Amino acid sequence: MRILVLYRSWYGNTRAVADAMAARLGSRGHQVSVQDVRQRLPDLASVDGVLIGAPTRMARVAVTATSALRRLRRRGIGARPIGIFDTWGPVPKTAEEAEAARKWFEPGAAGILLKKARALGLNVFSETLRCSVVEFRGPIADGELEKAAAFAERFATPAPPTGARSRSSGGSPG
Ligand SMILES: Cc1cc2nc3c(=O)[nH]c(=O)nc-3n(C[C@H](O)[C@H](O)[C@H](O)COP(=O)(O)O)c2cc1C
Repeated sequence: MRILVLYRSWYGNTRAVADAMAARLGSRGHQVSVQDVRQRLPDLASVDGVLIGAPTRMARVAVTATSALRRLRRRGIGARPIGIFDTWGPVPKTAEEAEAARKWFEPGAAGILLKKARALGLNVFSETLRCSVVEFRGPIADGELEKAAAFAERFATPAPPTGARSRSSGGSPG
């Protein structure tokens, strides 16, 4: 699959997530290019799917990321899949803290991008990736880059046709 990874990043955390996804996809034989959302989009004829992500900042997402979604649509991305990711954090330490701070990280940049992409009629991948940071400006928390890499792999694995059954399930009568 030829995958374009678009990111917005101030302190390098979201870029690190984008790079981790690209590295895993590359190691699995996919063709990947990674670029800042603010850059000019490549010719979409050479793209089979797009991963796009940005950090959650002041409970919001960068306008340049939402405008990249609009540009993808305008440039004819059509029904090719779009996977959404963000970074956020730090993760609240207690349930009380989480309750008090929830509006700052939910739905987060990923949730806002997801809503926007759906409103634009884009074909959004069924999963959304959220990677947390340890402190306000990073670094990315342990295990999150591996989570990102695994997410990217699932994104690039074609879904089985609707109604298809796994060969290993069910068993055969008699
Ligand atoms: C100015 C600023 C505002 C932030 N606001 C939020 C926020 O509202 N909610 C949240 O979950 N994280 C927030 N964070 C944490 C960032 O989401 C996190 O550090 C992110 O990984 C930064 O991405 P970047 O390094 O790619 O810029 C904020 C960080 C900064 C620096």
